Amino acid sequence: MSFTDHILIAPLIRGLWINAAGESRIVVPATDAAGSIPAQAVSADLSAAWTGDGFDEVLAAKVLKDAYAVWEAAQKGRAQPSCIRVKVLSGEAVYWIDRELRSARRRSETADASPLEIGDTDTAPSAANRSSVVKNKVVLVTGGAQGFGEEIVRGLAVSGALVFIADLNQAGAEKLAETLNTAEKRIAAVAVPVNVSDEASVEALFKTIADTAGGLDLCVSNAGVLKAASVLEQDVGAFRFVTDINYTGFFLMAKHCGRLLRRQNRTAPGWKTDIIQINSKSGLEGSNKNGAYAGGKFGAIGLVESFALELVEYGIKVNAICPGNFLDGPLWSDPEKGLFVQYLNTGKVPGAKTVADVRAFYEAKVPMKRGCTGADVMRAIYYAVEQEYETGQAIPVTGGQVMLH
Ligand SMILES: NC(=O)c1ccc[n+]([C@@H]2O[C@H](COP(=O)([O-])OP(=O)(O)OC[C@H]3O[C@@H](n4cnc5c(N)ncnc54)[C@H](O)[C@@H]3O)[C@@H](O)[C@H]2O)c1
Repeated sequence: MSFTDHILIAPLIRGLWINAAGESRIVVPATDAAGSIPAQAVSADLSAAWTGDGFDEVLAAKVLKDAYAVWEAAQKGRAQPSCIRVKVLSGEAVYWIDRELRSARRRSETADASPLEIGDTDTAPSAANRSSVVKNKVVLVTGGAQGFGEEIVRGLAVSGALVFIADLNQAGAEKLAETLNTAEKRIAAVAVPVNVSDEASVEALFKTIADTAGGLDLCVSNAGVLKAASVLEQDVGAFRFVTDINYTGFFLMAKHCGRLLRRQNRTAPGWKTDIIQINSKSGLEGSNKNGAYAGGKFGAIGLVESFALELVEYGIKVNAICPGNFLDGPLWSDPEKGLFVQYLNTGKVPGAKTVADVRAFYEAKVPMKRGCTGADVMRAIYYAVEQEYETGQAIPVTGGQVMLH
């Protein structure tokens, strides 16, 4: 079976297993499909789903549900199959299912088809243990190699999620994944290259996710850039560069992520998934000599509201989080290229003689007298995921600096 077919089938299988268990599942294709198909595997013939018009995912979902029901009827007690063989147009494919990536891979390597126990699903998170809303979930963070993205990746990995770190900076993403896998003693993170402003690259990213884990629960669209300049001076190339990543890039992410999540929803209609755009306080209030950035961020809130209206039908919530300045992050604090140094050198802050003076100036603008941190953003992410009765919102995390009107 071709790599392309996995994105059609794996999310349907993942959704079916999630629907039956009420908790997240990882689905991996067998490394050696023909060699080791155990007798306990579910069998489904999907070949009729390829019609003259393409792949009929509604029909494929029905065939899979029926096949699962046959397995379930013959089973005593609460358990799930851990293996499924599917007949496709080009032959046959085998998938293995478990809670974690490592255990799913182990099943595939050892052909271990023993049933998968269904856990206690009555674990509604409380405010005190809110991070448990992402435990064992499959999560994607773009721009995850540094800055806010890195903070989000670290927070999600420590909370038990499997995190795909998608970044232009592949070396940085790989290094971070390695560090987290060692610290967490499991496959907590996987690095994947992406350029969010290139559609082919974004499409390939979601194929890789479907091929590696079967699907996704939360997409954090965080990659973003800033090129501040006066409207009277800014080169249109710089304007387009910022807009391509911050605005069009979010459209591309939502488009291809939405397709994958809709497919998963065909077999898991009650399972809520999330697309969260990391926006900015500059998406809520204009930013002087920074129009390309603020314009793209304002526009992205329009996309968030519109996509939320459309995707709600598929159980997908779409929200934005609007952080204040991450003064400890590389964008501001990098000793050579950071905004503190730049603003000091260009005299943007009147009377400032040191980097500390520039920092104090920006801290003083915040009612809570400090910059935004990764932990502040994580609380908003947990809230957005946990809250099942909200979509299309922009959540400010600004220490009171920018308020909703
Ligand atoms: N830093 C702040 O003060 C601040 C404040 C509010 C909102 N934000 C938002 O938070 C997000 C992260 O900002 P940051 O300051 O942490 O950024 P950063 O510059 O520190 O990191 C951005 C990451 O995105 C990656 N990236 C850039 N272009 C990409 C592309 N085309 N495709 C894939 N990856 C790409 C970079 O390689 C880098 O790892 C952005 O959306 C930004 O607008 C930042």
